[in-house]
Amino acid sequence: MDSWWTHAVIYQIYPRSFMDANGDGIGDLAGIRARLDYLAWLGVDAIWLSPIYPSPMADFGYDVADYTDVDPQYGTLAEFDALLRDAHARQIRVLLDFVPNHTSDRHPWFVESRSSRDNPKRDWYIWQDAPSNNWLSNFGGSAWQWDKATGQYYYHAFLKEQPDLNWRNPRVEAAMFDVLRFWLARGVDGFRVDVLWHLIKDEQFRDNPPNPAYRPGMSPYRSLLATFSADRPEIHALVMRMRRVLAEFGDRLLLGEIYLPIERLVTYYGPEGPAAHVPFNFQLIQLPWAATAIGVAVEAYERALPGGAAPAWVLGNHDKPRVARRLGTGQARVAAMLLLTLRGTPTIYNGDELGLVGVMRPASESLDPKGRTLPGFSRDAERTPMQWDASANAGFTTGGAWLPVQPDFARVNVAVERDDPRSMLSLHRQLLQLRRTDVALARGIYTSGRRHDCVMAFGREFAEQRRVVALNFSSDAQRVVLEGGAAGRVLLSTHLDRSDAVSGEVLLRPDEGVIVAVEERRRSPRPA
Ligand code: NOJ
Repeated sequence: MDSWWTHAVIYQIYPRSFMDANGDGIGDLAGIRARLDYLAWLGVDAIWLSPIYPSPMADFGYDVADYTDVDPQYGTLAEFDALLRDAHARQIRVLLDFVPNHTSDRHPWFVESRSSRDNPKRDWYIWQDAPSNNWLSNFGGSAWQWDKATGQYYYHAFLKEQPDLNWRNPRVEAAMFDVLRFWLARGVDGFRVDVLWHLIKDEQFRDNPPNPAYRPGMSPYRSLLATFSADRPEIHALVMRMRRVLAEFGDRLLLGEIYLPIERLVTYYGPEGPAAHVPFNFQLIQLPWAATAIGVAVEAYERALPGGAAPAWVLGNHDKPRVARRLGTGQARVAAMLLLTLRGTPTIYNGDELGLVGVMRPASESLDPKGRTLPGFSRDAERTPMQWDASANAGFTTGGAWLPVQPDFARVNVAVERDDPRSMLSLHRQLLQLRRTDVALARGIYTSGRRHDCVMAFGREFAEQRRVVALNFSSDAQRVVLEGGAAGRVLLSTHLDRSDAVSGEVLLRPDEGVIVAVEERRRSPRPA
């Protein structure tokens, strides 16, 4: 039997920006709970909640001060339990964000650790008399922070308010595995694991080498390759141990946030097979949006995957410019069709189903700490609130929203798009419905299609059922020849206006993608 997640669609919720039930301008668990019917209507199988734990919010929750509670801004443990129960009642699974690489500097473990050099928790973090290497923080500057009280430096791959845990210390591992058990016992269905490839650092703390691909304009962090500060060989045994903790509770999912080239990424499926672990594949975000580049990457990934493994494609998240901003609204529809017709476990970022672009704000006003330390890299735009209806603040809050909604919210929102049969939201819903009902799209193998300059075409096949997905990456009309002169019928177009019969070829309008059900090939009569 397949695990539930091998063909599930995951929906990422950024809790701060999804729905505010108590009018303080910040989203909360009660708000998410109130919108579960929307998610059931949309047709997603699981939700992943970005961190909900108590946090000083230096990095909006990715700085955790207590792993086994809920931040009062978001609600209470009882409200979490109610959300979990109501989600499960709608057959929606719930994944939490596990942030194991670093804690908040206010976490009691770090408070103890920094209190004296001989504190029993000193070795829970990474301390040195002087920085022994050139490692950089993702958020700019050296990754080593001087701590006056005890006269040593500690290591932080992100903000100085996010000291890295020392995962070579078995006590850290045991404590963090108990955190997993705490939530698994409450009934959560798995975790997205923050920066999973960072957990183990080089034992000798060697210098990271320069990155030959570095160009001005890229984040300064990328001027070095993270050869020694991340993706160390020992990580794989640790991931397997983590998977075993999940397995104590049955079929739960470990989804890893891993930004690595594909040949490294696929190693994270692990030697024991992909039965409980999926690394995110971010290539659809990182590559230039061109039919050939994307087509080649998808096929290379399909070939590189270990047997039985499913890819986990992603088009957007709370760290990257929204897909509709990057590609424009026409191509964002094509991208949605690609995401939801590829094989595996796709993740939709909340708001992308509406075509949100977010709101760009001046660097000086960035609430995101990254935007303050690295002007031009603020992630505020992709974190602006969900737009529910045409009322004040797009129905997100009755208070003052923590980030602004888009000026066009009266037109771009759930209520309006739900009633519009051609909207981006209707496209997502239809794609999700088709994935549920169409076995070739849900479970079929991936087959490569012909190469075109502006069109990516591929097949999905299950037994006799054959689908062809043809995506026009250009704003010109394109003609796509169907292999063997096949005939069929359009099941869905990104323009949501056709279900015509096709024969031998399919004509694509500008920015159009189609899914074609290809008629069963007639078997030629056997010679007598
Ligand atoms: C990845 C998260 O997605 C991002 O938002 C965060 O800033 C870093 N990890 C640090 O936790």
